[in-house]
Parts: sequence; structure tokens; C-alpha cells
Amino acid sequence: MLWLCVLSAVSACVSTSASLPVHSHVRRSPHNHTFLLFMDPVGERSPADRYGIFLKSLERHALLNSDARGSGDAYYGINQFSGLSPEEFANLYLQSYPSRSLDPYVPSKAALGGSALPSRFDWRDKKLVTGVKNQLDCGACWAFSIVGAIESRNAIIGHPLEDLSVQQVIDCSYLDKGCNGGSTDNALKWLNQSHTKLVKSSEYPFKATTGACHYFPPTEFGVSIKGYEAYDFSDYEEQMMNILINVGPIAVIVDAVSWQDYLGGIIQHHCSSGHSNHAVLVVGFDKTGDTPYWIVKNSWGTSWGIDGYVHVKMGQNICGIADFVAFPVM
Ligand SMILES: *[C@@H]1O[C@H](CO)[C@@H](O)[C@H](O)[C@H]1NC(C)=O
Ligand SMILES: *[C@@H]1O[C@H](CO)[C@@H](O)[C@H](O)[C@H]1NC(C)=O
Repeated sequence: MLWLCVLSAVSACVSTSASLPVHSHVRRSPHNHTFLLFMDPVGERSPADRYGIFLKSLERHALLNSDARGSGDAYYGINQFSGLSPEEFANLYLQSYPSRSLDPYVPSKAALGGSALPSRFDWRDKKLVTGVKNQLDCGACWAFSIVGAIESRNAIIGHPLEDLSVQQVIDCSYLDKGCNGGSTDNALKWLNQSHTKLVKSSEYPFKATTGACHYFPPTEFGVSIKGYEAYDFSDYEEQMMNILINVGPIAVIVDAVSWQDYLGGIIQHHCSSGHSNHAVLVVGFDKTGDTPYWIVKNSWGTSWGIDGYVHVKMGQNICGIADFVAFPVM
């Protein structure tokens, strides 16, 4: 109750303050994020500083919302990240990087002349995507992204859909830096070289911190990959639809700076290509409306975005979604 009172005080303050250019632009996530504004997620800051950061977030939301252009445009507002400065947010959440520059994807003739693609496709409709995870303050989006791709691919080829261990990838992928960051491509390379079997998440649960790698006997249940592919699809974004439908959900690394404030709608600008910093999983697309979009699973919990998902416009490499695309071969 105390929290709610304080939040109403904040809102009142905002709507009566003549100096802030927010007013009617202020939107809130439907979820309860009030407490986070008053907790100090990274320590070291006074409540006054934290409040100042929150007011800056409101200004940023107003600016982002004032620039809506296309149909179904994204909207931005108060969520669990509104108490963080953009620098703090980036240090905690934007910790994936491309490990190298990838070869451009060269579509095969068969793929180009392939049969007509559906106008809407979503692996969730087939119940082949696990639930949205929350990476908390561990910068291991790269591990969540590739584990998500492997979970779905494993189910698509006929096995039960299981939550596999992200912590195992965080602790054991020596080519990456655990909760301090990593690359989807390095993680797949490690899985392919080491023939590691990913165990169930329940056997090796997520701890949100990097630990010592735990090894399992070879007889233990686990899911391994036979290989992987990684390409730059920036000139062939349509071909990503073929891969998505024929292979399964695909791991991508995007520029997610503006995602700190995302509440819903289709992201059509406010982010750039060539500045990849966050790994996520593309699970579908929808071309039935005015603005076609990719359906993207994030790892910031279900209270972020659209039940943990974000929609990103297709066709213009928005947020660099086609720059660094990887998927397992199983
Ligand atoms: C929001 O969360 C806070 C802290 O967990 C809790 O005390 C409060 O009751 C919640 N409010 C609502 C409306 O659920
Ligand atoms: C995966 O590993 C196999 C050998 O186990 C190797 O032949 C193949 O080239 C590797 N794939 C990639 C993309 O490195």
C-alpha cells in the first residue's frame, strides 16, 4: 500500500509539474512495477538520484512517443526499467555482441523459387516455444537466445518440448563471458565442438550469476546439436521467413537501446542496424496488417513488452534484426 501511495504521488507530481514535457504522453505497463522505482537495483544511489533518473525516463518516453509515424507504431512508457539510467540498463541488459562478421546469406535457387509462404506464422501456435524467461541482472541474453532456439528445434524434430538449462551454457561456454556477456555464435560453436548435451533446466537451474561448470555423465538425458549456421541476412530478410518456417525459431542480435522503454506496438524506428547489443529469438511473423512484423521472444520476463515479446517491423533490417542470425542444426 505504501508503494502505491508513493506511486500516485509520483504521478500527481508529474501531471502537475509544468516543467516536464510529459503529461498525457505518460503510459504505464499494465504490470506492477512500482516497487522498482524505489529499490536501487544497482546500489550506490540516493533516492533523490533515483527519482531524478525516473524523471529523465519520463522525458525519454515522451520524446519517443512524440515521434510515432507508421501504422501500429511502438509506444513507450513506465516499466520495470524506468528507474535505471540508459547506461545502467546497457550494463545490465545489453551484453551480447557479434563475435565476428558473418558471411552474407546466399539463398539457394530452391529457396527463392520456393512455395508461397503464409502471411502469418508463429511457432507458439504449434506449442513449440517454451515460456518467456527472466535473465534478471545477468547479462546472458546470448545464452537464453540459443537455448530457446535449441528447445524449439528439438521439439520440432519430434521430442517433447523441455526447458533446457541456460545456466549450463552460462557456466560452461568458455568462449563467452557468462553473465558478463557473450555471443550466440560462440555459444553454438562451443556446443558443436564440445558435443555438450544440454540438460533440463530443472536439473541445472538458473542462478543469475556465473558459476563453475557442472559436468554430467554421458548417460544423462540431454540435447546436443550436430552443427549450426550463422549468416548476415541484411539483404535477404525475406529469406529469414524460409529459415524460420523450415528450421525453427532463430537467434538474432539486435540494437535494443530503445527497448528499455518499450510497452507494445511495432518497433519501426528508434533503433539502428550495425549496433548489435542484445540477443533474442525470432519465433514468427505477421504480414496480415499494414505493417508486417517479426514476433520476437525476449528474456526480460513476461511483464516486459507484450507478455515478454516484442514486435519489430519486417523488411528494413530494423534494429539490425537481420545482421547476425544463427540457428542450430539438429
Ligand atoms: C505492487 O508490488 C508491491 C511490491 O511487491 C506490492 O506491495 C503492492 O501491493 C503491489 N500492488 C498491486 C496493485 O498489486
Ligand atoms: C560442427 O562440428 C563438426 C564436427 O563435429 C564439424 O564438422 C562442423 O564443421 C562444425 N560446424 C561448424 C559450423 O563449425
